[in-house]
Amino acid sequence: MVKHISKQESEIISTRREFLKQFGFGAAAAGMATPLLDNAYSAPEQKATGRRVKYRVLGKTGLRVSEIGIGGHSWAYKQVPDGQEGFRRPTVNEAVRMIAASMDMGVNFLDSCTALEESSVPGEALKRLKARDKVIVSIRVSHKMKGVKADKQEIYKWTEDRLKLWQTDYVDMCLLCNTENDTPQSGYWDMSYSIEALDKLKQQGKIRFTGFGCHFRPELFLEAFDKFGDYFDICSIPYNVRHRAAEKLLPAAKKKGLGVITIKPFVRGALLKDRDLKGTEAGLPRDLIAFVLENKLVDICTCGVHTIEQVRENLSASWTKLSEVRRQRLKKLAATFIGDREYAWLEQGWLYA
Ligand SMILES: NC(=O)c1ccc[n+]([C@@H]2O[C@H](COP(=O)([O-])OP(=O)(O)OC[C@H]3O[C@@H](n4cnc5c(N)ncnc54)[C@H](OP(=O)(O)O)[C@@H]3O)[C@@H](O)[C@H]2O)c1
Repeated sequence: MVKHISKQESEIISTRREFLKQFGFGAAAAGMATPLLDNAYSAPEQKATGRRVKYRVLGKTGLRVSEIGIGGHSWAYKQVPDGQEGFRRPTVNEAVRMIAASMDMGVNFLDSCTALEESSVPGEALKRLKARDKVIVSIRVSHKMKGVKADKQEIYKWTEDRLKLWQTDYVDMCLLCNTENDTPQSGYWDMSYSIEALDKLKQQGKIRFTGFGCHFRPELFLEAFDKFGDYFDICSIPYNVRHRAAEKLLPAAKKKGLGVITIKPFVRGALLKDRDLKGTEAGLPRDLIAFVLENKLVDICTCGVHTIEQVRENLSASWTKLSEVRRQRLKKLAATFIGDREYAWLEQGWLYA
């Protein structure tokens, strides 16, 4: 039987082939015995909505990516009601169903952040779905750009650990991440040794593209675009209806050809806290993502999810056009003060465009 390969799949396949060819994996590059053409995953539980997310081009990587990505983080948080008045993490079986449903709706971008327990979940899910080569995998290496020689060994180790957890021999993207408190001694952005390490990992065929994204002030992003924008392929920036400073930064990122991945559409749920999402405020998460996607300089909006209902709701943002009433609802939401100390950095530097 002839298998039909979607345009999205064929582009991932061809970029993967080029990558393999470049690094001399001959048989695989020729398409022999690779799982690339094996349409092995299926999501029987996915409601057949027939709707699929749209795609954008991720800056100079040239990759065609789903405009909504599924983030990490949430795999590690105990946020799923456990039926005994407590909470638990999503199980791997649940992750399999969520990732399969996302892929059925066109998602081809999976992110993971820092925690080891988080990174093990999507890797195991992809293995069970036999779908590693059908998605773009992005890892984030945290606190490893201090401008000291030891950065290199830390980045190698961090990457090797994540390759094991993702059960893969390469990742598509590796993003360097810091918080502002990590590196004042090096003027915040001394990436010299980190770049050396990334170059070596690229030569070894372990990573394809590189990027950066941090809990930093917007001005420091501008500085980084200037100093390092020619080297990196991608940047990752917080952006939501309340924290809109990204609007000032995106033109500068695009000038350097950087792909833009935005994070924090819900400030990790803080913008949704205490809202009646099943009642009058139903559809708010979808609208929050639709707001981010209205900005055509954004390439991917990445969100964390805990349940399959959240997956369906969030992905529907791709075909949601905001009405005036919904826009007014978002405007009201944007006035919500976020008191959680964890997000003080967002409240201080990122409030307005
Ligand atoms: N250092 C870095 O570079 C960095 C930092 C942050 C994030 N990231 C990346 O960005 C991804 C997104 O994380 P984020 O911090 O930006 O979080 P976010 O996407 O703003 O919020 C995710 C949380 O919102 C809630 N949520 C999601 N969809 C929902 C829905 N439909 N209805 C109700 N609640 C919903 C869930 O929490 P509940 O289930 O608890 O409600 C979920 O855990 C991360 O997973 C990670 O990959 C990277």
